[in-house]
Amino acid sequence: MKNINLTKLALAVFFLLPFGEAGRGFTQSLIRGPYLQSPGQNSIILRWRTDVATDSRVNFGLTIAANTTTTDDATSTTEHRVKLTGLSPKTTYYYTIGSTSSVLLGPDSLLHFTTAPDTTIPNSFRLWAIGDFGHGNQAEADVRDSYLRLAEKEKPADLWLWLGDNAYSDGTDAEFQTKVFDSTFGYGNIFWNLPFASTSGNHDYNSICPWQPTFCNENPENHSGPYLDIIDPPIHGELGGVPSNRKLFYSFDYGDAHFVSLNSELGSLVSSYNWLGLFNSDTSFTSPMLDWLKADLAATTKKWKIVLWHQTPYSGQDNFTDDGVQQFCVASRVHFNPIIEKFGVDLVLVSHDHNYQRTFLINGHYGNSSSFTPSMKINGTSGKEDLGEPYIKYKNGPMKDKGAVYVISGNASEGNDYSPISHPAIYWGEACGTCFGSFIVDINNDTLRGRYLASDDTIADYFTILKKTYVSPEGIEEQKVLGNFTVYPNPSPGKYLVDFSLKKKSTVRIDVLDAIGKVVYSQNKTTLNPGNHQLTVDLEKSNFAAGNYFIRLDCEGVSFKKVVKKE
Ligand SMILES: [Fe+2]
Repeated sequence: MKNINLTKLALAVFFLLPFGEAGRGFTQSLIRGPYLQSPGQNSIILRWRTDVATDSRVNFGLTIAANTTTTDDATSTTEHRVKLTGLSPKTTYYYTIGSTSSVLLGPDSLLHFTTAPDTTIPNSFRLWAIGDFGHGNQAEADVRDSYLRLAEKEKPADLWLWLGDNAYSDGTDAEFQTKVFDSTFGYGNIFWNLPFASTSGNHDYNSICPWQPTFCNENPENHSGPYLDIIDPPIHGELGGVPSNRKLFYSFDYGDAHFVSLNSELGSLVSSYNWLGLFNSDTSFTSPMLDWLKADLAATTKKWKIVLWHQTPYSGQDNFTDDGVQQFCVASRVHFNPIIEKFGVDLVLVSHDHNYQRTFLINGHYGNSSSFTPSMKINGTSGKEDLGEPYIKYKNGPMKDKGAVYVISGNASEGNDYSPISHPAIYWGEACGTCFGSFIVDINNDTLRGRYLASDDTIADYFTILKKTYVSPEGIEEQKVLGNFTVYPNPSPGKYLVDFSLKKKSTVRIDVLDAIGKVVYSQNKTTLNPGNHQLTVDLEKSNFAAGNYFIRLDCEGVSFKKVVKKE
């Protein structure tokens, strides 16, 4: 679908408004939206704001012309909310909005939505994530436009993720209006056809809790404000997940993925309101949010698990997550990370630090950067599939579900220009006063690809996570391609020659696993012709301890040879 023409927003409103309620003696103007919330396989919510209160009507259908199905809400309001039900999965519908008296906006080629994929069949979809946007500046517009160019060149996103600090500086309704909903520097009619799911940041909280920006000493059950008024997430388990019954944090399913939005702003000096665990290093700490998180992740059976919150647990700029100032970041790492890693979360999206950074595939690091050890890297390579180094997450076996990639995407409207990035968990990052961007995720069945889209259209970083079935070294698998397979000398100080023959042309990849099945060495995937071949595996480097290893040869099926590395 061709995506966005921002100028159409103004044109459509200008031409359509005079025909609104004119016959009844007044004109209703569209102030905000429409925008889309809670996209399900069979339902979606449309929201919009008008200056004059009326009832609400959405007409929709499979083509622009045939939008003849109608859903009404009789409540007279300026804050319109209509939930459409009975929809088909992964189906595009065109719509108009208005009242029972008149159409306020549409029909228009940009007024459409697509329902979530059918989870009973392999599915694919695209995410667009932005963090720390809402400054209402040229950088925000540049990041937006780089996404639009990618959408035009490839395809648009299916779901939009907001990573917090959504409207600067205080998350007021006026700031959301001018810096987010507006089309000059904000996102204009992207809202018309791209549903968003979000988390709150500390700046949004400046209008939610009167005790902010330092500590929120207000009962979370009473939190209210512009951000919470704007969002309309499925908090009662309507779209999967355990009901949170609060907009503060929630979960939902989309395709074969489970999404969790956590709230890293619920740190308080009042212990009963301290749901984040701020200033609390007790690993047994719990709270209504953490109890819900455990129950929610334990219950999901979705293949992919993606969690978003705002305050980053890792950052390599100026000891950002080590020092005493960023205690919300520290608390998120101490209390969120052990839970999400226990339940096999694949990808964490955060912001707060105004740059892009991302980790290796890691597990088990809950302290300051100095406590990070190499063993916490489940895979310490680039994660780049074209280099033969995708991150593998096993569906079974001793390394089942181990490892997550943490992405900071916090430069959608402002960049940090202080020290170089240095943190042992971070694979790469970009930080400067003029470095802006957003993050694209493509999920296709067993493959997740993440890309950092800089505002100049450069793909400055990328990685792939593959879900694979683990085959035990003791297992036997019928080989259709592989002929002979020998490894020698064995034992050896670390250098092994791998002789093998192929019955037909095949891609070949060699990995070395340690005794518990963790991949410790990989060779690039290559395509070889039928016949005899020899490759070398070199474990002589000092970081490979003496002991038992398994050389795994993957050529459309896997075979193992146990080898011993001598002292
Ligand atoms: Fe922030």
